[in-house]
Amino acid sequence: MRPLLDLLKERKLIRWVVAYLPVASLSAFLILACSEPPSWRDAVAAGWPYSLDAAAVEATGGIVVSTDRYASSVGADVLKAGGNAIDAAVATAFALAVVNPEAGNVGGGGFMVIRLADGTTAALDFRERAPGAASRDMYLDETGELTDASRVGHRAVGVPGSVAGLWEAHGRFGALPWSSLLAPAIKLAEGFEVRERQAKSLLHYAEDLAQYPHTAEIFLPGGEPPAVGDTLVQADLARTLRRIQQQGRDGFYTGETARLVAEEMERHGGLITEQDLASYEAAWREPVEFSYRNHKIIGMAPTSSGGLTLAAMLKILEGYELSEMAWHSPAMIHLLAEAWKRAYADRNEYLGDPDFVDNTRVQLVSSEYGAERRASISLERATPSTEVAPGLGPYEAEQNTTHLSVVDPAGNAVSMTTTINSFYGIKAVVGGAGFILNNEMEDFSAKPGTANMFGLVQGEANAIAPGKRMLSAMTPTIVTRPDGSLFFVVGSPGGATIITNVSQNIMNMVDYRMNVVESVHAPRLHHQHLPDRIDYERGALDSATIAALEAMGHTLRERHSEQSLYPFIGDIQAIMVLPDGTRVGVSDPRRGGAAVGYHRQ
Ligand code: DON
Repeated sequence: MRPLLDLLKERKLIRWVVAYLPVASLSAFLILACSEPPSWRDAVAAGWPYSLDAAAVEATGGIVVSTDRYASSVGADVLKAGGNAIDAAVATAFALAVVNPEAGNVGGGGFMVIRLADGTTAALDFRERAPGAASRDMYLDETGELTDASRVGHRAVGVPGSVAGLWEAHGRFGALPWSSLLAPAIKLAEGFEVRERQAKSLLHYAEDLAQYPHTAEIFLPGGEPPAVGDTLVQADLARTLRRIQQQGRDGFYTGETARLVAEEMERHGGLITEQDLASYEAAWREPVEFSYRNHKIIGMAPTSSGGLTLAAMLKILEGYELSEMAWHSPAMIHLLAEAWKRAYADRNEYLGDPDFVDNTRVQLVSSEYGAERRASISLERATPSTEVAPGLGPYEAEQNTTHLSVVDPAGNAVSMTTTINSFYGIKAVVGGAGFILNNEMEDFSAKPGTANMFGLVQGEANAIAPGKRMLSAMTPTIVTRPDGSLFFVVGSPGGATIITNVSQNIMNMVDYRMNVVESVHAPRLHHQHLPDRIDYERGALDSATIAALEAMGHTLRERHSEQSLYPFIGDIQAIMVLPDGTRVGVSDPRRGGAAVGYHRQ
């Protein structure tokens, strides 16, 4: 006590306090400010299953992120061997066709968005096409009612585009020899050790896969799905891949593979002929490019609706200061739902295959569009979807698609999503060729104005016609910073939820300054105009937020099915590039993929 009294007497303490208090309080403030988690974290419930602080994979060299560790490793090895991002994407995609048969494919199609280190961009459409014998009402019965033939059985199969797409991308941008990019996939097809990812998926779908003997022979050897540690051999697929390795595109679209596909179709009443295959072409499109809060978004053009619908959503939302609103607050979610609803209404009405439809009737990428759509949004009340556009329908889907992202050491980037639509497509492999066929015809409006399996109520623009491509929601996307540097590469499966999922990741990173782990791991929401409902992942919203949104007129539903293999929304594969060039890769914990990268030597 004595020294303190002395200090007081001499007024030393007062002088000390006056001198140091500002410094001390500033330091205390800084410590508090730095240790305080960002406010958006408060909106993530304590029980949320995915850690916002999970470790990411960092690389100063190349990096590949996909839904499967085998496939990502194949891609990373290609980069290490001097391949560029396009080479790595090609090799990873072929590997996914082997180790991720639920979605990876040569029997499906997809989209690739490319941004080279010098800023050149490109977008490749290798979406499946309707066979020549397809017709507008081919899935209606005599009474005009929809049948399930657009998703079940061989009439549901669209002419595959994946091999043509990978061949085309490699032909224009690849650096390593084509054959070297097939070699790892062939090796995996000759036999790979089953990991938990494959065992779980094959067990879940065993009953469906058992329907077709050729499929069962491969994926249920001895009548059972393989267990972890077993070797899965896909000898027919290895032979198909070897034909593609040796003959390129022709190894799939002509000769033996084409003959096997045509025979499979004849055996099961499918429509695809050797002529359909021979005439398939991938198509380069102008990428959809637009700005969002001074960042440039490079997205996929139709036949995917991904880029234009993403633009529509973000152009509406750009007019609100989201960063000043608490993340996942009722006010913020209300605006997302209103924007998504309007963007989806326009997508469903106007978009379709650009070879058949003029997709520029509404300028979805323009700020004027955003302003016009915003004008009908009330800040207090939900606009019923019936007042945004007519029609209603159910939706629940078992579907599958897969995304991969690559950044190579030079800074070239690829964002690519491919699909066979449902998990394991129609569940049938092509006899003798060993690959699973898609059920992509389901993505057309088989009966315009009626919901498809994603609940999407689409219009005439997406009606079936011979040779036409079905509209997609796949949204492979690349984002650059205001200074023009590469910011992040992103994409996901998830049917209609893909576009809202990608839009949330862009808002998370641009408006809420999340890092890429936080952005991918954070809970997700969805609205697609019809049904008129906000879906939320289990644990994403608390009861007060739900009640506040209901009071505004929204309907909400927890989107979680215990029966589903993957009950949460989407499977983002993302890479963020830090300003110092470090690549940070995150594979969505919702399905179990992996980022694989390496450091510069
Ligand atoms: O192209 C489309 O929009 C759909 N075929 C995508 C399906 C899908 O993402 C399913 N994934 N879980």
